[in-house]
Amino acid sequence: MKIVHAASELYPYVKTGGLADAVASLANALAERGHEIVVFVPGYRSVVEHPDAREATTLLRPKIEMGDVYMSGEVRAFSPRPGVIVYLICRDEFFDRRQPYGTSERDYEDNHHRFIFFCKGVVEAMRLLRINADVIHCHDWQTGLLPLLLRHAEQRHGDVLAMHTVFSVHNLAFQGVFPMRSFYRTNLPEELMGIDGVEFYGQMSMMKAGLLFADRLVTVSPRYAQEIQTPEFGFGLDGVVATRANDLIGLLNGIDRAIWNPATDNLLPACYTIDDLKGKWTCRAELLRRHGFDPEYPGPVFGMVCRLTAQKGVDLVLANREFFKREDCRLVVLGTGEIKLVDGLRDLAGSLPKKVALSAKLDESMSHLVTAGSDFFLMPSRFEPCGLNQMYAQVYGTIPLTTRVGGLVDSVVDCEDDPDRGTGIQFATSPEGVLSGLVRALELHRNTAKLVRIQLRGMRHDFSWKDTVKGYEKLYDETV
Ligand code: ADP
Ligand code: GLC
Repeated sequence: MKIVHAASELYPYVKTGGLADAVASLANALAERGHEIVVFVPGYRSVVEHPDAREATTLLRPKIEMGDVYMSGEVRAFSPRPGVIVYLICRDEFFDRRQPYGTSERDYEDNHHRFIFFCKGVVEAMRLLRINADVIHCHDWQTGLLPLLLRHAEQRHGDVLAMHTVFSVHNLAFQGVFPMRSFYRTNLPEELMGIDGVEFYGQMSMMKAGLLFADRLVTVSPRYAQEIQTPEFGFGLDGVVATRANDLIGLLNGIDRAIWNPATDNLLPACYTIDDLKGKWTCRAELLRRHGFDPEYPGPVFGMVCRLTAQKGVDLVLANREFFKREDCRLVVLGTGEIKLVDGLRDLAGSLPKKVALSAKLDESMSHLVTAGSDFFLMPSRFEPCGLNQMYAQVYGTIPLTTRVGGLVDSVVDCEDDPDRGTGIQFATSPEGVLSGLVRALELHRNTAKLVRIQLRGMRHDFSWKDTVKGYEKLYDETV
């Protein structure tokens, strides 16, 4: 099949979170199965400057209709691996910036124009380059208008650009809601401005457009497909999602084992396997040393890697300041995000410098070291569409401590709920819940035999795309 993906992030070229990993690894897994894969991403500075993209060839310089003006763009392409072609939709005014969406303080004010332009650029490129796709698979709100724009262009030009459209929800909390006055930039028929179209409380919602107008919908875990039909997790769109329940499926993301594998991970100071964990202790010592702790420290080490936002439950950890003060343990957090939470963690680390450390930066290789070098991986998310870190942690022999939401339910088994299959510790989404998880972790750490049993069980999991990719093939097949 010829499968076109359109997304605003793609590892290793542009990444703010799991979207980049998920899109890249799904595309690669599909290519390995023999499909012809095209991935469209905006030509952000980080992408254009990446060594892989330096050789990119310019294929087109289309004029994109944006309301009553035409804006010029450039379509470049390169092939990072056999079977995959990455197309960049470029326009420096929109994409030659330091960050994809804005700063941690504020989103860019023209994000609606940037992503309308991106979607229209994809449609024009598909039309002019005659990329006849079996399926176009759009990811998250940035591509939410694409199914509509695609069908609209087909009608206008009497073409078929893609047989079918699939829309993936990676995170319903981010919806791409903008003032309705920007709708005219889409050149879509005015009747779509209403409640049966993109209207969401008087504004234009790009996420809603994707939810309503793609042929099929996917979430990144089965549990999340159920959750987003409820007010608690639907962020106001649960009703819309529920109307599409028959077209919705949840498929648990896989992880890219070429990148996340302790046996081959060249970002680590030492590799290790299930048969020989020596390297894990080297990683642990290095992690502690890098954060100013005694490398030989024998007590429990908690690690955390995430966007520092309310979604990730950072405040639930901060509410447990007393635990970290009282107990003998170490906590290393790697993350960037909301100032208030960064400050909270900085304050915690400042007041407990012998126990808590914060690396307030984006650092790919440090994220591998925290995953490998910790004993426990803390992930108390309020909601988690899939979550990748809990899977990375398990295959690195690091026991995940998670809430019972979304993909965390589908990928972690609590070791008390099921002593024969358990790979982690789970708890309720509250400060008390997190505390109970931390206390259970301390107990487990004192019982080395049990700890190692659970660690090894996690490491035996594969979490690769092997099964999930078949789920996507089935979905694409059914759609086609
Ligand atoms: P989300 O997409 O909601 O942020 P995921 O668990 O799906 O959550 O994926 C997060 C990804 O981002 C993981 O690959 C994680 O390692 C990475 N990540 C998050 N924060 C950082 C950071 N500060 N430095 C490096 N990688 C990070
Ligand atoms: C989103 C979600 C995360 C998921 C990722 C990849 O960013 O927050 O849970 O793992 O997308 O699908």
